[in-house]
Amino acid sequence: MKKIPHFLKVTDLSIDQLGEALEVAAEMKANRGNCPYKPLAGQTWALLFHKSSTRTRVSFEVGINELGGHTMILDQKRMQTGRGETVSDTAKVLSRYLHGLIIRTFEHSIIEEFASEGSIPVVNALTDALHPCQIVADLLSISERLGTSGNLLNSLKDRKLAFYGDCGSNMAHSWILAGAMAGMEISLSGPANFAPHSIVDQWLEEAGLPKTYVFTENAEAAATGADVLYTDVWVSMGDEEQRDQRLKEMAPYQVNGSLMAVAKPDAVFMHCLPAHEGEEVSSEVYKSKQSIVFDQAENRLHAQKAILSFLSSK
Ligand code: CP
Ligand code: NVA
Repeated sequence: MKKIPHFLKVTDLSIDQLGEALEVAAEMKANRGNCPYKPLAGQTWALLFHKSSTRTRVSFEVGINELGGHTMILDQKRMQTGRGETVSDTAKVLSRYLHGLIIRTFEHSIIEEFASEGSIPVVNALTDALHPCQIVADLLSISERLGTSGNLLNSLKDRKLAFYGDCGSNMAHSWILAGAMAGMEISLSGPANFAPHSIVDQWLEEAGLPKTYVFTENAEAAATGADVLYTDVWVSMGDEEQRDQRLKEMAPYQVNGSLMAVAKPDAVFMHCLPAHEGEEVSSEVYKSKQSIVFDQAENRLHAQKAILSFLSSK
């Protein structure tokens, strides 16, 4: 396993490393509770939250403990950054105590600054632009459900995923990057003013990946022949002031029975959670046998343990 310095974007892993991460995560899942591998023994990792979290916080705390390490939650409200201390100084100070830092914040530039100014590994636990830990768990979840035997990443090749709603969101951008790495067909569908942001094309180019995703306002066209229909909340953390406008404009992009009907018969429904049933997804689809949302949530634990192994390996 070749060490990586930080995990800010899924493209911080090479395609081979992403494949290895999925295999390691699957192995850790199969052997949970019976794994002598403790790469974080003697280490303390902190989790810094500028936004709310249920899954990310709990899965990282449990995962770090299972890998032999200790955790510490840092609440922005009780930090000196809340009173004006710079990110640069905070990153330098925390690097003198900790072995790694897991951050959920707003602008992506904040996490980049923590990584460049500090001297310990930084993990992106969600920014306005990207949610890379979620996407590794999601790739594992799709391969478990739809993959053929053999290499997990290869089993995703040529699978079609349709993403609905805010296509300029952290989850949509993460799918564009991960889909390109996995050789998947990514169609994104939402209102024209919620299209993917241009920064994601720059990130594809920097990673040497092709720009193969498609954005369309036609929800049915995106779902046609899809293996996966994926959605996320219409109002992400930080977008609350636009709630009324977003709900109105995104209403035609709800994932419901009509959309599932044009996807493949064995298509799955996915959502990173938390979900708002009746908004971005109908209750019928959310609660259907095609829904794998709780597998996704569980796989956060296993995927993040694999990612942490890349950050701590010698
Ligand atoms: N999917 C996800 O990141 O959930 P939390 O916001 O609860 O961490
Ligand atoms: N797009 C959502 C994801 C939550 C896990 C948000 O940023 O709020």
